[in-house]
Amino acid sequence: MTPWWRSLDLLSRLRARLLLSRAKHPSLAGHGRIASAVARQVPRVEYGEREFFETDGAPAEVVARRTSGFEKLRATLCERSPETLAASLALRDGISDVAFINGYRVPFPYARYVAERLPIGCIRDASEGARVRDLDGHWDYDLGGDYGVNLFGHAFYKQAIERGVARAGELGPVLGAYHPIIADNVARLKRLSGMDEVSFHMSGTEAVMQAVRLARYHTRRSHVVRFCGAYHGWWDGVQPGPGNPRPPHEVYTLKEMDDTTLRVLSTRDDIACVLVNPIQAMHPNRPPPNDSTLVGSRNDARYDRAAYTRWLVTLAEVCRARGIALVFDEVFLGFRLAPGGAQEYFGVRADLVTYGKSLGGGLPVGAVCGRRAFMRRFREDRPADICFARGTFNSHPYVMATMNEFLRHLDEPEVKEGYARQEHLWNERAARLNRRLKELDLPVRVEHMVSVFSTQYPLASRYNWMFQYYLRAEGLSLSWIGSARFIFSHDLSDDDFDEISRRVVAAAEAMRADGWWWPAAALTDRAIKRRVLREMVGARLGLSSTP
Ligand SMILES: Cc1ncc(COP(=O)(O)O)c(C=O)c1O
Repeated sequence: MTPWWRSLDLLSRLRARLLLSRAKHPSLAGHGRIASAVARQVPRVEYGEREFFETDGAPAEVVARRTSGFEKLRATLCERSPETLAASLALRDGISDVAFINGYRVPFPYARYVAERLPIGCIRDASEGARVRDLDGHWDYDLGGDYGVNLFGHAFYKQAIERGVARAGELGPVLGAYHPIIADNVARLKRLSGMDEVSFHMSGTEAVMQAVRLARYHTRRSHVVRFCGAYHGWWDGVQPGPGNPRPPHEVYTLKEMDDTTLRVLSTRDDIACVLVNPIQAMHPNRPPPNDSTLVGSRNDARYDRAAYTRWLVTLAEVCRARGIALVFDEVFLGFRLAPGGAQEYFGVRADLVTYGKSLGGGLPVGAVCGRRAFMRRFREDRPADICFARGTFNSHPYVMATMNEFLRHLDEPEVKEGYARQEHLWNERAARLNRRLKELDLPVRVEHMVSVFSTQYPLASRYNWMFQYYLRAEGLSLSWIGSARFIFSHDLSDDDFDEISRRVVAAAEAMRADGWWWPAAALTDRAIKRRVLREMVGARLGLSSTP
């Protein structure tokens, strides 16, 4: 017979396991292994010429409008920039990333048809103000924001690099020894982050790797808590689900802004750290938006600063009480929200903070700032028990010098003043654009967190992803995720914002005129998903590869 204390132990482990299950988000994003297993079973479904235009059952008149609209769009995009397209196409077989991106701009059943007919140039040879130039001499507004790097405008980063190279040029790329400029960077980062120590790395991904390694080393615990949907770089250790062939070990993906998660943190003894990516405040528990997965509507971004602040305050309290390292991953948002980043903006202190992107002043970088208790890589009393971290190019003199340009820029009075205005400025700009879209009864809205916008599509349609091509035809340059995110720099003038808004509205009007937003009462998200599922299952069973 099992002794009573064993049964009690079993019971408490069962309870802990159940609690953990309840803290997982019910979506596939909350269950990485299941999502990967499902992804491996999804067959290729491809729409041919006929199906492509009528996957929502639109009548012949609408299909005809779409077909001729598509041809017009194709002519515009192809004729506008032939040299850029030819040079971009030539890269497709040589750069793996280009081949991947070309195949994943839109939901994959439509992807081949679109990629063959609506080619997108990926080469630019100049930038000025808010615009970038292609090889055919067209100046497009850049809404990609250099993946978030571009906070102060291209001109600033060009200058930072020029000055940085000049300041560190005498030493050159000497590695191992530090350029003296590093001391000022450390002092400034310590002040901005409120932390005791700093370490430099070569990318945001590496900064996250180091923060997680340090948290495990100092707490002597195994597990990392990350929140459902949050991106923390492409390292195996924090990226569950499709995209990573090796599921991360010792990682719990839990619900953000949820009491059950707090209960898990309060009761388990194996959690080393909690990773927070503050951009998730815009869409907690959802993966970052991307047009390649835009199957129906996209209407889930809602940014509530007060609610997210409350969540972070409580989370920090629980982490502190339990000796769990709270890690703010500010690689993306970092200095966009405030000079002191998300910590300052939300008024919550973390134990470790990762930075990257804009911090490098235009050159690649990652950094970790943290409390001494978490940053030390050795133990006074156990000299062989160390936490190793290297990186050939960390603290590269040129990067340290461009970083210094960036950090000193933050101290300039007009930049400091500018931060105080940003929130109101972008609230007002987003509201103006939304008002115009509403007046014209267009099924597009924007939601935003300061200067990061996400395009929302309140109408369930199978073709919302087409909007990215209409935007491009209007001379708006987007990153590979299409219309999902526009990232603006803080030097953008009102005139430029108004011109961008005018083009967004013109793109939406053209798309509506071409019939892609044909409204059908039966076309709900649920109905669309059901149909997509039916098509997948049919193809998987070998009944048909096209509907
Ligand atoms: C929050 C966050 N963490 C980490 C990373 C990874 O940074 P990098 O692309 O420099 O490796 C990113 C990149 O977008 C990010 O947004």
